[in-house]
Amino acid sequence: MLCLGIETSCDETSLALVDNNSLLGQHTYSQIDMHSVFGGVVPEIASREHLNKLYPLYKSLLNETRVSHKDIQAVAVTRGPGLLGCLLIGLSFAKGICLARNIPLIGVNHLYAHLMAPGLKQQIMFPAMGLLVSGGHTNIYLIKSPFEFKLLGRTLDDAAGEAFDKAAKTLNIPYPGGVFIDRFASLSTPDEKMFPRPYLDNSNLDFSFSGIKTAMVYHVRNNPDLILDQDSVIDDDFIPSQKLAAVCASYNWSIAQSLSIKVKRALKKNPVKSLILAGGVAANTLIRKTLNNLAHEHNLELVMPELSLCTDNAAMVAWYGYLLAQKGLHHSLDLEAIPRGKPIPWDYSESE
Ligand code: KG4
Ligand code: ZN
Repeated sequence: MLCLGIETSCDETSLALVDNNSLLGQHTYSQIDMHSVFGGVVPEIASREHLNKLYPLYKSLLNETRVSHKDIQAVAVTRGPGLLGCLLIGLSFAKGICLARNIPLIGVNHLYAHLMAPGLKQQIMFPAMGLLVSGGHTNIYLIKSPFEFKLLGRTLDDAAGEAFDKAAKTLNIPYPGGVFIDRFASLSTPDEKMFPRPYLDNSNLDFSFSGIKTAMVYHVRNNPDLILDQDSVIDDDFIPSQKLAAVCASYNWSIAQSLSIKVKRALKKNPVKSLILAGGVAANTLIRKTLNNLAHEHNLELVMPELSLCTDNAAMVAWYGYLLAQKGLHHSLDLEAIPRGKPIPWDYSESE
């Protein structure tokens, strides 16, 4: 089955084609440069950009993969969570194709698509424990199958990615700062006493990252020399001071600890066959290493998407849509977008 995937939930416009188990191609336009001048995603600009870019990306994807729009058999689209205006652009585009071609529409939960993304390249053993760490979410799931997700824990305030990005903003590191903190951290060793390991003195599986973010604000207030100069060009070649690298290493370490200790507790209560790490923050070097060690301790394989499939992309949407379609699950053209903060219903229709 040839399934088109569409992702427009935030600041990446992405389209991909999955044919059965293989990714035929993916075209993505990242709006990061446009939003970084504002220090975060501006929803109105993001939805306008999706509108401008979707059709040209669709045409170039079909050209490159030599697929005719008549060959597409199903359309999977992110229906939430995300920015409402952005989701609506993707949904309208998907519905247009389904209406014109009379093919099934499959609304995809963006978070489940992140977690199932590694399945494109390798077989995932179920039941699995899933840690989803992105700019908007930090969730632990017990996943019985690609169609049964049980939420075990979640962040009570900021997501891990938000904690990275906001700390970066305090230091004048450009948006999205997680990737810079990761790189700067690798140039030093953590001081384990510099920041608290967030929200561990409890018996639940939830997270809280607003405290460590505030700790960074106070640390920078007491050490204003850490703040990068407004005119510095922060790119891949930028070398931070040793002091800044040490702060990034310590901050990164505390977040990685909080994530791995909660996952360890979840594994203790729920025996599984694999551990999945997914979402944009899954690209973080130390978090990958820490979770890999944890998986080894439990004799589990750590399943992670390759780096290009960690951040938002349509390949994961097309792939998860394909799995749903294979099971005969789809939506009608009444499908609604669900913004961030609202639960996403499992409201698929089943074909005979
Ligand atoms: O999943 P994603 O692309 O978008 C959301 O759905 O949120 O995740 C984006 C988040 C941003 O907060 C970004 O700073 C973070 O992922 N991120 C990283 C790294 N690469 C991306 N955080 C830490 N280390 C990284 N290497
Ligand atoms: Zn995402």
